[in-house]
Amino acid sequence: MNSLLEGKSAIVTGAARGIGRAIAEALARAGAGVMLGDLRAADVRSAAAEIQQPTGGRVSGIAADVTRLEDMHRLRDAALEEFGKIDILVNNAGWDRLMPFVKTAPEHWDRVIAINFRGVIHACHAVLPHMAERKQGSIVNISSDSARVGSLGESVYAGAKAAVVAFSKTLAREHARDQIRVNVICPGLVETPLLEEIQREEFGRKIMGSILNFIPLKRFALPQDIAPLAVFLASDAAGYITGQVISVNGGLTMVG
Ligand SMILES: NC(=O)c1ccc[n+]([C@@H]2O[C@H](COP(=O)([O-])OP(=O)(O)OC[C@H]3O[C@@H](n4cnc5c(N)ncnc54)[C@H](O)[C@@H]3O)[C@@H](O)[C@H]2O)c1
Repeated sequence: MNSLLEGKSAIVTGAARGIGRAIAEALARAGAGVMLGDLRAADVRSAAAEIQQPTGGRVSGIAADVTRLEDMHRLRDAALEEFGKIDILVNNAGWDRLMPFVKTAPEHWDRVIAINFRGVIHACHAVLPHMAERKQGSIVNISSDSARVGSLGESVYAGAKAAVVAFSKTLAREHARDQIRVNVICPGLVETPLLEEIQREEFGRKIMGSILNFIPLKRFALPQDIAPLAVFLASDAAGYITGQVISVNGGLTMVG
């Protein structure tokens, strides 16, 4: 437990498991009150309870689908009711399956874009007016290294994640005058339920299996490898950092 985020309050989307859950826990350990949102109603409530116990912090979770703007309004309102303010928004909810582009269909494109890009738009649109009014805020968007360098089998996902990067930089410019910082984390490969699901299919297994050789640090990340950067970017220690895109990937890509 440290006090980097003492007195702050945060929303994390897609926080029932994987990277989002690790970020929610790290924010709570750093002293923030955290409102978790996720599609998985039961899981998000139990994740919140499990984080709350050891940290002793103010942690709650509600069902909230990022593809529905009204759910993001509910998530914002739940956080405001619980904490009275929102200092931090972590847009983490995401989804993907690996397929050659020509084999993908419109339903896949719509789902990938709705969750990975439109979901970020919804949460930002719901929370930004509150942050702007208070002249304070930090938004951390979870994109992907695929947004920076492309990735076999992830054409539409990579495009949606690249859209998150451009969107984040634009919000960083628009809201700098409101003292709101917007930054992007690009994970490489992280051992989460999502990665496991992707590897259940042969194509996904083949692609992911070949990547390990190209990771200089010779392992996939754990969710706990991503969370400390989210805590830092959310904190006042990162007060002069905005509009930046930072990879956490064991050296897989080294973008200048
Ligand atoms: N795991 C990786 O290798 C990897 C790599 C790069 C980027 N990312 C990104 O990191 C983020 C987290 O991924 P993860 O690997 O932890 O995934 P995960 O599937 O393990 O966890 C994602 C969580 O988001 C939730 N979610 C999915 N759709 C949602 C929706 N519409 N509304 C609300 N919640 C929703 C899921 O229920 C789940 O709890 C995603 O944005 C993902 O694209 C992951």
